Amino acid sequence: MSQQAGGDRGLFSGHFGFVIAAAASAVGLGNIWRFPYLTAKYGGGIFLLVYLILMLTFGYALIVAETSLGRSTRLSPVGAYRAYAGSKHSPFLSFGGWLNAIVPMLIFPYYCLIGGWIIKYLVEFSMGKVGILAGDGYFGGFISDTWEPVLWHLAFLGCTLAVILKGVEKGVEKASRVMMPLLLLLAAVVAVYSMTRPGAGAGIYYYLVPDFSKLSIMTVVVACGQLFFSLSIGMGILITYGSYMKKDVDVEKATNRIQIMDTLVALLAGLMIIPAVFAFSGGEAEALNAGPALMFVTIPKVFNSMGFGGAIGTMFFLMVFFAALTSNISIMEACVSTLSDELHWSRRTSALFMTFEAIALGVPCSLGFGPWSFISVAGMSILDMMDFTAATVLCPFAALLTCLLIGRLVGIDKLALDIKASSAFRREKIFRVCIAWLAPVILLIVLVSSVAAALGWIKM
Ligand code: PHE
Repeated sequence: MSQQAGGDRGLFSGHFGFVIAAAASAVGLGNIWRFPYLTAKYGGGIFLLVYLILMLTFGYALIVAETSLGRSTRLSPVGAYRAYAGSKHSPFLSFGGWLNAIVPMLIFPYYCLIGGWIIKYLVEFSMGKVGILAGDGYFGGFISDTWEPVLWHLAFLGCTLAVILKGVEKGVEKASRVMMPLLLLLAAVVAVYSMTRPGAGAGIYYYLVPDFSKLSIMTVVVACGQLFFSLSIGMGILITYGSYMKKDVDVEKATNRIQIMDTLVALLAGLMIIPAVFAFSGGEAEALNAGPALMFVTIPKVFNSMGFGGAIGTMFFLMVFFAALTSNISIMEACVSTLSDELHWSRRTSALFMTFEAIALGVPCSLGFGPWSFISVAGMSILDMMDFTAATVLCPFAALLTCLLIGRLVGIDKLALDIKASSAFRREKIFRVCIAWLAPVILLIVLVSSVAAALGWIKM
């Protein structure tokens, strides 16, 4: 469907076309890699609770809003924003549209890097090196190397580019239709295994029981960023996908499915990893604060202690690879369609531009763990900084503008009417309150706090 992005819009075949494409975009490294390490770092159960509350309120409101905004304008974000300016030139609207479009451009380079780490682990597991991967310090040694991680980064970027240029996204989506349920199943098995290890009980407690003394403004700020990252909201992706959606598809039901799937994978990833941190790494502050390394350090230890660890590890990383690839394709698609819609570049030129961008920004992220590790702001590595800027600062900003666009310009009534045309819209009240009041207020607080945290005024 993406080939028609610039001109006549292709449409998804119906409910499932949209759900599968949007779920393929949503379920990815955000659920399996990002969610567990943030939960571990920001207080376990309390982070989970805040995340779930945000998911049910404005996560829900925004996913519905963005999808129906796209559906009613039939345009990708920059155009969708501008559509409401009529013939006037509106800098506010252009800015809002571009902000939505720029976030995926920032995420893309480091998403490719983490995708590269996944391929590396996939290859090593398939060669049976389970014991070596589980060794202390192995991962640290790998990412601090100057060139090796960069080569894997290029490999993942190459896979994405190949799929996009060959126009075989459909085939990959079909494969992920099988891979996604398998991933869920395997994650459930591994989670049960992790939870039954000696010492894991403390981890289950830490993950599931909220400790209110650990609640801080940063819990909310980071949970909010995670919500955007994981559901692919605030980055124009759902606006674009909504624009391919037929008028008779039930928006509320379709977006609900995506939320459930996305949350389920994240919950399972947490259950796989956090109890294992306690069982295998002692659960001390240092282990819980491992950041982006957490999954890569913990999961091999789990597989190493299992029978058939090599085979299970290979299967697991293969499925994670697919989940990451389909998400990365959606990120690249969003960028390519903005560039070709707005700057009138061909798809090939836009894809080439994104490739260079991914190298220019992705390589420094990788070097930030090795030769450039002296560069750090507020304790963040280069990758952390880019991730923080994109997901925690710019996404809420973009979402805030979307709320204002809908609340003040489009009119919630108009959008609600459009949603009701095909759906019972049972949670209309929550939707209205969130878009008009709750989300703008919370997003503003989040935005101010995230900037204050980046400047070192409040503790990360
Ligand atoms: N939501 C995806 C994930 O959880 C990542 C993503 C981010 C996809 C931004 C599209 C846009 O991995």
